[in-house]
Amino acid sequence: KVLVCVVGARPNFMKMAPIMRALQNVKHLIAPYLVHTGQHYDQAMKDTFFQQLGIPEPNMDLGVGSGTHAAQTANIMLKFEPVLDEVKPFAVLVVGDVNSTIACGLVAVKKQIPLIHVEAGLRSYDREMPEEINRILTDQLSDLLLTTERAAADNLLKEGVSERRIYFAGNVMIDSLLSNCKQASSFQETLHNYGGNQNVSEKNYALLTLHRPSNVDDPATLARLITVISEVSRKLPVIFPVHPRTQQKISQAGLLSELPEERVIMLPPVSYLEMLGLMQAARLVLTDSGGLQEETTALGVPCVTLRENTERPITVTEGTNTVVGTDPVKIMQCVEEVLANGGKSGRVPEYWDGMAAQRIVAEIVRRYLPDN
Ligand code: UD1
Repeated sequence: KVLVCVVGARPNFMKMAPIMRALQNVKHLIAPYLVHTGQHYDQAMKDTFFQQLGIPEPNMDLGVGSGTHAAQTANIMLKFEPVLDEVKPFAVLVVGDVNSTIACGLVAVKKQIPLIHVEAGLRSYDREMPEEINRILTDQLSDLLLTTERAAADNLLKEGVSERRIYFAGNVMIDSLLSNCKQASSFQETLHNYGGNQNVSEKNYALLTLHRPSNVDDPATLARLITVISEVSRKLPVIFPVHPRTQQKISQAGLLSELPEERVIMLPPVSYLEMLGLMQAARLVLTDSGGLQEETTALGVPCVTLRENTERPITVTEGTNTVVGTDPVKIMQCVEEVLANGGKSGRVPEYWDGMAAQRIVAEIVRRYLPDN
């Protein structure tokens, strides 16, 4: 029986890799059919991730590329529908909260194919985030909702999702992290590969990522963040792998010259193993990413989140994360605190144990293929 699995954007790949691997153990029961929507398409945003994570070649690449939200979502839907007609899966599995997630979920449900959502129930309660809309809608459409932290179930129950659809499976992104930690590239190697500054030592730099539309699309907000980053870089060097969206916005706003070259080391988007290595050796991470908040918690590295809210509260209550927002004064205070006292140490949350994908696959078999 065929299970269609969907990936589209960079943060989907590390979530799908362990699921594809766990599906190998039940290949007498389930034939996975991997669809890549093509939302992310650059070598650095896609191919290196497939290679390093050992994800099989997609059975189908929809090749949609970039566009407005409506264009991208609609294109994915149009191209995904005939795939379902052709392969007739018993269910469709989507991960995360990107446009590919909601687009494919909606197509599946309209065809009365059960939808399985991995990483269900996370809520920032900020509807200005495109991902929040994707999360709410995908969860409403889903037949089986697999959660990464216990608070997610409460969010879902409040929205009227019935309890029997929810299953606490743990965090598949941490499955990937744990199985790849040892192979991570050293930060020196990464800097060397990109011709970066060599005057950076272990646990003596900040790692920065920035790509949320709310932070980079408005030139005034972006300028404020760039100023504070340059201030942080006076305390310790900053390594900054730059997302394509952010690259464009920084150039358009003419802000490149605001970042002191020798203290803020800008890299192109780095690979998964390079990012893992950069995180492990960082003194702290500054980010607006969802995934990095979780990965730093799993690694025990202090994380300063440059957003007003988080949909992953366990990284704050149990992990190493502090949500500071974009106020320069608060950001500097938080960075100085981490530098002075080492930052939050935290503990690794329940079921972030490397076994989430196996629990997910076992639950899928139990629910959809009960005779086996
Ligand atoms: C998407 C996800 C976001 C996720 C992020 C991780 C949505 C709504 N957003 O945002 O949740 O955190 O991925 O990266 O789905 N581009 C390239 N090469 C690529 C892909 C994109 O240059 O391979 C550029 C294009 O100019 C594009 C822009 O980046 O317009 C934004 O890409 P898009 O997929 O629309 O959203 P992200 O900002 O990457």
